Order: sequence, then structure tokens, then C-alpha cells
Amino acid sequence: MFELSRRLEFSAAHRLHNPDFTDARNSELYGVCNNANGHGHNYVLDVTVRGPADAATGMVMDLNRLAQLLHEVIFVAVDHKHLDHDVPWLTGRVSTAENVAAAMWEQLQPHLGDLLFRLRLYESAANFVDYYGPAGARPAV
Ligand code: NI
Repeated sequence: MFELSRRLEFSAAHRLHNPDFTDARNSELYGVCNNANGHGHNYVLDVTVRGPADAATGMVMDLNRLAQLLHEVIFVAVDHKHLDHDVPWLTGRVSTAENVAAAMWEQLQPHLGDLLFRLRLYESAANFVDYYGPAGARPAV
């Protein structure tokens, strides 16, 4: 079994703010990330597919096809955008790294099926989240 990964980098703005909470609660909860006019990140998304290498091709999947898919499905939608306002599949969600990763999973999974294994989304070099899909969606490794 192999885990094959492709990295995608993009820059985007966002603001952590839950409209269900008061401004005071949002400020307390999200701190500087609740700044009214937003802030930016240079995000890094590592997409990992998992499976056997095909006997004939020697590949889990064609990395060029994965790169093309990430460009079309993710990069075009989010690069140099405001995640809270410009991305239809993110509107209505608080744009935490967790929620952004889950939304990206929903966008990619129909194209990758059971090959999709993990999304690792970095907001910064120090802060990142790993997502393995909805709970129970696949057997544990
Ligand atoms: Ni942020």
C-alpha cells in the first residue's frame, strides 16, 4: 500500500467569526483571527491518496492528473480570494482550518473516491490540521 501526496499552495483571506455568537464572544473565542476586516494566510494543502501501485503503470494514480484536479477544483476557487465571501462552498461555515479542510474534502472526494486518504491543511508553518473524511466514512488503517 502506498500513500502518494501532492502539495498545493494558495493565498487567501478570511475571518473567524460565528454569527451565532455575540461580538464579545467572537473576540474572546477567536482573538486576532476575529479582526473585523479579515487577515491573510499562505495556505499549504497536502492531498494524500492511498492505494496499491497499479501492476502495469507502477502508479497509485497519475500525479499529473492529481495536480490538474487540485488546480481546477481547489486553486482556482480559493487563490487570492476571501474564503468567507468568494467561495460558494465555504459560505455559511466559520473558516477554521478544520472547516476549510472538510469543505475541500467534499469537493475532492467525488473525483477521487476511495483513493482520497488525507488532507493536511497548513495555515502557517506551525499550524495545520489533518482530515481523514467524515467519521466512519472509511475503515481505520
Ligand atoms: Ni486565520
